[in-house]
Amino acid sequence: MSTNALDANMLQEIEKRRTFAIISHPDAGKTTLTEKLLLFGGAIRLAGTVKGRKASKHATSDWMEIEKQRGISVTSSVMQFDYNGHRVNILDTPGHQDFSEDTYRTLTAADSAVMLIDSAKGVEAQTKKLFQVCSKRGIPIFTFINKMDREGRNPFELLEELENVLGIRSYPMNWPIGSGKQLCGVYDRVKTQVELFKGDDHSEITVQKVSGYEDEIIRDMAGEHLYNQLQEELMLLDVAGDEYDYEKVLRGELTPVFFGSAINNFGVQTFLENFLQLAPSPASRKSSQGEIEPTYDGFTGYVFKIQANMNPAHRDRIAFFRIVSGKFERGMSVKHVRAGKDIKLAQPQQFLAQDRDIVDTAFPGDIIGLFDPGIFRIGDSLSTGKEIVFDELPTFSPELFSKVTIKNALKQKQFLKGIDQLTEEGTVQVFHTTSGFDEMILGVVGQLQFEVMEHRMKSEYGVDILLHRMPFQFARWVVDDKLDPTKFRINSQLVKDKKDNYVALFENEYAMRTAMEKMPSAKFLETAP
Ligand code: G4P
Repeated sequence: MSTNALDANMLQEIEKRRTFAIISHPDAGKTTLTEKLLLFGGAIRLAGTVKGRKASKHATSDWMEIEKQRGISVTSSVMQFDYNGHRVNILDTPGHQDFSEDTYRTLTAADSAVMLIDSAKGVEAQTKKLFQVCSKRGIPIFTFINKMDREGRNPFELLEELENVLGIRSYPMNWPIGSGKQLCGVYDRVKTQVELFKGDDHSEITVQKVSGYEDEIIRDMAGEHLYNQLQEELMLLDVAGDEYDYEKVLRGELTPVFFGSAINNFGVQTFLENFLQLAPSPASRKSSQGEIEPTYDGFTGYVFKIQANMNPAHRDRIAFFRIVSGKFERGMSVKHVRAGKDIKLAQPQQFLAQDRDIVDTAFPGDIIGLFDPGIFRIGDSLSTGKEIVFDELPTFSPELFSKVTIKNALKQKQFLKGIDQLTEEGTVQVFHTTSGFDEMILGVVGQLQFEVMEHRMKSEYGVDILLHRMPFQFARWVVDDKLDPTKFRINSQLVKDKKDNYVALFENEYAMRTAMEKMPSAKFLETAP
């Protein structure tokens, strides 16, 4: 795609942006780390604000009623702050049981990811799932191994696990000096310096430049035992570890690893500084017109998530929009490509650490919230100038299924409308049975979506629904010229999706494999064809 000459200011705005997501398993310390990063950025003043918010019943980010009830954040939000000349956008990805397709889709708006790992637990289930989504996109992944103040696993073992479980090579950027109660600092392999934690609560950090890890200064600072241990470990790392290769980092083949402790602020600032330096500025996205670079002269972007009811008083929806190229200005007219209409972006919102603010200008890499009176769908593209359609966002196969029925049959009309509109948002998929009565089955990626569905059907459509969990764990779209429905009887069921595609639901992998073997000519797809 050709690029017109851009003014220097625009290039600077693009260059300074870093848009990333933190991926982790619940309890690894994502809230704690996020909070520390926001503190460095001056976006919040007091530690405990984000944590407090997480537990609070009336928190700012608790947009939906259900969030208030549970004190957790259901839907991903975005936080923005400035640090060292960078404009940082952190995409929050829900990690508890509120895991959903939203979480996955949000990752498409990130240009890099920070993978947070609990040093005692290593790579956990949800980290693995999120990693795979990032890895498929080939974005750079930075690793922060947290809770080094506790007795955790051996750092070498953790690196090995990254390779064995996730298949990614690693390069430790720093190395812990001691661990658990004995942790007294980290050795920075890149800057060849030592950061020592001082004071009773280790809140002071002294930085000392050294000539290398053999430097006697470290012996004086950390003591004989830890000095010797560090020597041994770093020598081993030099001999057996991977070499640092920035190109591989950018391709997502090598992850720079940082050890630290978010709660004590150990290694967090150096992590942030290194990360901002190494992480890429906003990347291009694929479209019907080829790759659209952030420097492309038209304004373009796409909706990656729609959130309903952020303000329950108004039932409004917010479409989260990632800017791919061009400058956004409040009030500008853009083409809504799918709808074939020009629309005016009048009241866009930007997400700062605390509040939502009306935004006047924004640049590639930024996420803005567009007021949505019901005109957007996930994946919609907006552009000025030439019409650009960005590639479809990936969909994910549901893993949990429930039959859905209505308590009061008189509300059938609202029930169908609610199911239709809510499944349109993309976090819940609806299927219909193919034999006997027409029954509806809902499929989700995370359990909480069922509760959200139940809650919203009642509060927005006035309908009480009943959900009956079904034993299925896998859904596969079946494509076959001569599909024989009788083949799906044991531990499986054949249903249809909204577009009348055949979908087979399976209780276990064995049932799925058996079906595949019995129908060699059929294709079993993880997402809709
Ligand atoms: P999450 O968002 O990933 O779920 O994790 P969160 O930050 O809420 O942290 C989970 C628990 O781990 C919290 O403890 C938190 O204080 C603790 N934690 C986070 N970072 C560190 C660290 O570097 N070292 C140690 N030792 N602990 C850490 P909690 O008891 O569940 O909550 P709270 O009582 O501290 O609020």
